[in-house]
Amino acid sequence: MLKTFDIDDVEEGMFVDSIAKQQGKFKITSRGRVTSFAVIKQLKQKGILAVVVDMSKQIKADVVELEEPALIPELPEEVSFEAELGVASKLHLKGKHLQKTMLESISKNLPIDITIPEAFTKNLVSSIDRNPNALMCLTKIREKDTYLLEHSLNVAILLANFGTYIDLDEEQIQELALSGFLHDLGKIKIPEEILHKPGFLTDQEMTVMKDHVYYGTKVLIEMGIPNSIVKTIGQHHERLDGYSYPEGLRGDEITHFGRMIAIVDTYDAITADRCYKVGRSSRKALQILLQDAPEKYDEVLVTQFVQCIGIFPAGSLVKLNNQKIAMVLRQNPVHATKPVVKVFYSVRGGHYLEPKELDLAAASNGVKIVDAVIASDLKLDFNKYFNESIVV
Ligand SMILES: [Fe+2]
Ligand SMILES: [Fe+2]
Repeated sequence: MLKTFDIDDVEEGMFVDSIAKQQGKFKITSRGRVTSFAVIKQLKQKGILAVVVDMSKQIKADVVELEEPALIPELPEEVSFEAELGVASKLHLKGKHLQKTMLESISKNLPIDITIPEAFTKNLVSSIDRNPNALMCLTKIREKDTYLLEHSLNVAILLANFGTYIDLDEEQIQELALSGFLHDLGKIKIPEEILHKPGFLTDQEMTVMKDHVYYGTKVLIEMGIPNSIVKTIGQHHERLDGYSYPEGLRGDEITHFGRMIAIVDTYDAITADRCYKVGRSSRKALQILLQDAPEKYDEVLVTQFVQCIGIFPAGSLVKLNNQKIAMVLRQNPVHATKPVVKVFYSVRGGHYLEPKELDLAAASNGVKIVDAVIASDLKLDFNKYFNESIVV
């Protein structure tokens, strides 16, 4: 049941469906619960006079308690990297938490309220619309023991970015992001010793591992996920040459979105740090994809993905010719080797520096990139530094 409330009568815990009356053009990204008085205050400051509250919205007793979509007011379009980074890092944390809760629910055979991941991925797409570099940077901040949580979140972020790059419409981008976020849920049904086994799996173990696609799509169908999303997820391990699973589909039997998720899933798996291996560089991952096209991956899509990610993707680390290390903030669409970076470490001095933004296209003193590096090469605890010094 929907009821309109004056903004002064809105209370914590109410589920806001939409804006009823306002001064100005402020938008909310999705429906959600008012989690604190700060949100009410923020809505008032944005000129919201009244909102429509869904009085019937409550979690059913038989649905496991998942974190609800919080009401996140939408920032204006295209904000700076710094302005978006705070929101993006909260979303990133929330995404991992939500992924964990969903996996736990599935392992206990409990139902999942699909509106929660739906609202989450909508917020994710909005963040990418405002500034894609913030969430893209966060895909580079990973921990070794949370692969499953970060991988699905990263695949969602990368797919939303890829979809935006090739000009898909908002609805398609949202569908892709949700497909990425849900694509590996079936892995929770795979025994730990196989799921986390270092190195290669035996044929027998591989047969068990392959079943994660079957378990995942089965759970999604039970959740009432639209068929098109189930289809995309069901195809994330299919390859154009048919040497793939679960169906061994070939060529045109694999959809456009099925081809996109295959590329992004592979890219993220190659670049990920695992408990038994250090992730490979973005450049190496892109090289592997290019080598395996057109036999396994759609050549046009791989080329577009390479262009979308760029030589030096946002969040990656580079070594400069002045012996300093910097993180790429955003690419230069004209000069791929001259992105805007944040310089934060001195190799010569062996110490961190006060982070400083530098546009390599405008740098007058000849500062340029000499190599792409990964944090482990430099023995840097980049994750800690990033969270403490770069996210504000
Ligand atoms: Fe998978
Ligand atoms: Fe995956």
